Amino acid sequence: AIKLVILAGGGGTRLFPLSRTCLPKQFLRLGNSDSLVTQTIKRFLPLVKPSDIIVVTNKEYIHHVKTELAICGASSAHILLEPVARNTAPAIALAAKFCQDELGASAHEVLFVTPADHIIHPIDTFIKNVRQAIELAAQDKVVTFGVKPDKPETGYGYIQAGETFEVGYQVVSFREKPDKDTAESYLAAGNYYWNSGMFAFTIGRIMEEFREHAPEIYQLVSASLPEVIDKFDAMPRISIDYAVAEKSAQVVMVPLTTYWNDIGSWDAIYDVLEKDHAGNALKGDCLPIDCTNTLMLGRNRLIAGIGLEDVLVVETDDVIVVAKRGESQKVKDVVAELKARG
Ligand code: GDD
Ligand code: MG
Repeated sequence: AIKLVILAGGGGTRLFPLSRTCLPKQFLRLGNSDSLVTQTIKRFLPLVKPSDIIVVTNKEYIHHVKTELAICGASSAHILLEPVARNTAPAIALAAKFCQDELGASAHEVLFVTPADHIIHPIDTFIKNVRQAIELAAQDKVVTFGVKPDKPETGYGYIQAGETFEVGYQVVSFREKPDKDTAESYLAAGNYYWNSGMFAFTIGRIMEEFREHAPEIYQLVSASLPEVIDKFDAMPRISIDYAVAEKSAQVVMVPLTTYWNDIGSWDAIYDVLEKDHAGNALKGDCLPIDCTNTLMLGRNRLIAGIGLEDVLVVETDDVIVVAKRGESQKVKDVVAELKARG
């Protein structure tokens, strides 16, 4: 059996103003569909029983998580609460500790770690990919999933594939969120893949990686579980990508052969929504006049657009964001500015 660790504690500020700290992206229902967390859980249910699922999240999101687990019929899954958010490396260390101490998992047991905010289909192909990853993880590797890139996205990690390794590749290097020029050179080189954000490794392997590359985390997680939670605020704020994937010599990659979208921006939302004949993705009360390739997402008020091209408009009670298509990653700058203002 494997243990499935679902990371569901992120702030999801890139979809501001629709996702806020109080309702981050993973809990959003876009259209009439399931939330992204629920989609994630359902995707794994053919493979993992609920009592082998651990949802790691911030204590503030406990009610959202309980609701989503109930929707999936997976209420016997474990919810592991972080008192403060410290990004994904400490969250994974905590989950590994929990599996050892509370679920009696051995060092040989495989942890499959997944973000909670992606769209992936079809499920049967995905499950095949997951099984491949589990096999490699059982051989003491840190397994990543690579997605063939089609643009120089700077919001992703990049995996440099080397020699083949069983069903996957050896990883020559891993680079988290490169700048635009670097991303362009990776795209041109051809042997780089986007990191999908999912990982598989044994508990023993990831603990060893923390010991080598993130000794601060390793030391804090070596205490008893209640103590680890108690001292969680002493954990460094660092993602698993920077803490382990960039540094480890044990990384291999399995190519993901499904559709994959991390919905990381309004541009990505535009990509997945249905469009009218002029390429406009419209939700809510929208009136586009001579508009092409726009996103209009209204909640309460009418959005009337005239002569717009490649523009994104998102309307909520208190905030309206208007952005040029292709620039929506910078919504995080708006959030940062608002935080700085207090
Ligand atoms: N429990 C917990 N605690 N979960 C967290 C925390 C935390 O402090 N911070 C983030 N998460 C969760 C998020 O909710 C999400 O499901 C997942 O961990 C990944 O975090 P993101 O913040 O969305 O990461 P990212 O998108 O910037 O980058 C990662 O994913 C990309 C693909 O989507 C990296 O792995 C990149 O390399 C990768 O390309
Ligand atoms: Mg993400």
